[in-house]
Amino acid sequence: MARLNWGMIGGGEGSQIGPVHRISAAMDGLFTLAAGALDIDPAKGRDFAQRIGIAPGRAYGDWRAMLAGERGRPDRVDLVTVATPNATHYGIAKAFLEEGIHVLCEKPMTVTVEEAEDIAATAQRTGAICAVNYGYTGYPLVRHMRAMVARGELGRIRLCVVEFSHGFHADAADAENPRMRWRYDPALAGLSGQFADCGIHALNMASFVTGENARELSADFLSAIASRKLEDDAMVNVRMDGGTRVRLWTSSVAVGSFHGLNIRVFGEKGGLRWAQQWPDQLHWTPLNGRAQVIERGAADSPDAARATRIATGHSEGMLVAFANIYADLAEAIHARREGRAPDPAAGHYPTAADGLRSIAAIKAAVDSAAQGGQWVDARPPSLRR
Ligand code: NAI
Repeated sequence: MARLNWGMIGGGEGSQIGPVHRISAAMDGLFTLAAGALDIDPAKGRDFAQRIGIAPGRAYGDWRAMLAGERGRPDRVDLVTVATPNATHYGIAKAFLEEGIHVLCEKPMTVTVEEAEDIAATAQRTGAICAVNYGYTGYPLVRHMRAMVARGELGRIRLCVVEFSHGFHADAADAENPRMRWRYDPALAGLSGQFADCGIHALNMASFVTGENARELSADFLSAIASRKLEDDAMVNVRMDGGTRVRLWTSSVAVGSFHGLNIRVFGEKGGLRWAQQWPDQLHWTPLNGRAQVIERGAADSPDAARATRIATGHSEGMLVAFANIYADLAEAIHARREGRAPDPAAGHYPTAADGLRSIAAIKAAVDSAAQGGQWVDARPPSLRR
């Protein structure tokens, strides 16, 4: 496959997620980092862009200059990754989609349901792909879980228990650190703190694995550090549209918990268990049978096989998971250009519809928590049927 031209907005020097994108996008040689507006500080952004190999003429001071600069170039960027703070995602993603440039937007896709509806509609209208970086769905064994559920090996799914709980924001004395503060500031993070930051990863993973979407939910929010305007802990019960119940806990004050993204799926015929910190083993227990460990590289589904890069027994991890999102996107972009259907095993990148569902779930959780945990419709207006 010919290399695609790729650009980044945000993800500047010292940012958390920027380096993960650059390593993952480079991994398969499918993308060339050709342009970027990498930092809120234009001079720092231009300087850093050139230090990581972007040509001076395409090391932009801000994203509007990048949009203008790329417009009309024969080698303009094919895909742009948006890795800025949440409240800026909508304006940037919308502008690039309108230009017909494919977008991989960091989560949460937007901060309001109206914006998310607009992004989904804009992608539909312009024909540009808007993907959302639920990168943990790129793990081979997560894709295998989805395949096992879809093949009916668990029977009807009764319950899915998901957690995304870490303890990195638990120090009250460090709560005003600007790198952390914005996540609990409604002006920059939106309606929700921890649920929007991590809870939606867990909910998206539950949807990805079960093949069901949230219909209604009930939430209890806590701001364990009292100065925070937004919640740093949430317990959410979700009724999915296929009948599965999801129990979801997310926290940033769970001292002793590190990454803390775990999923368990319980069906009529067996149960699965997977944890992001030990991603190369999937635990499978058939009903009345023995517990088994499925090792990455030995999972019998084309989806897991495509997502696996190195031999069983050597650790892979998050960079490969995110690289799988990029590899799926490259396949989708090439397929659109060539007017063919994409490889079905590559059809797993999260889309604007997934991003929209998450924003609707965030709004529903905020409303439910404010109403003492009342059940609230969790579906976006355009996807209620
Ligand atoms: P960060 O605060 O570490 O870095 C943000 C970067 O964006 C900085 O380089 C900053 O200078 C730059 N920036 C801010 N405004 C900008 C603008 N208008 N134009 C250009 N650059 C701008 O933030 P972090 O943790 O990297 O998060 C960024 C986004 O990625 C957030 O939306 C967050 O929710 C998401 N994220 C996703 C993860 C995932 O697993 N998918 C993990 C971590 C973050």
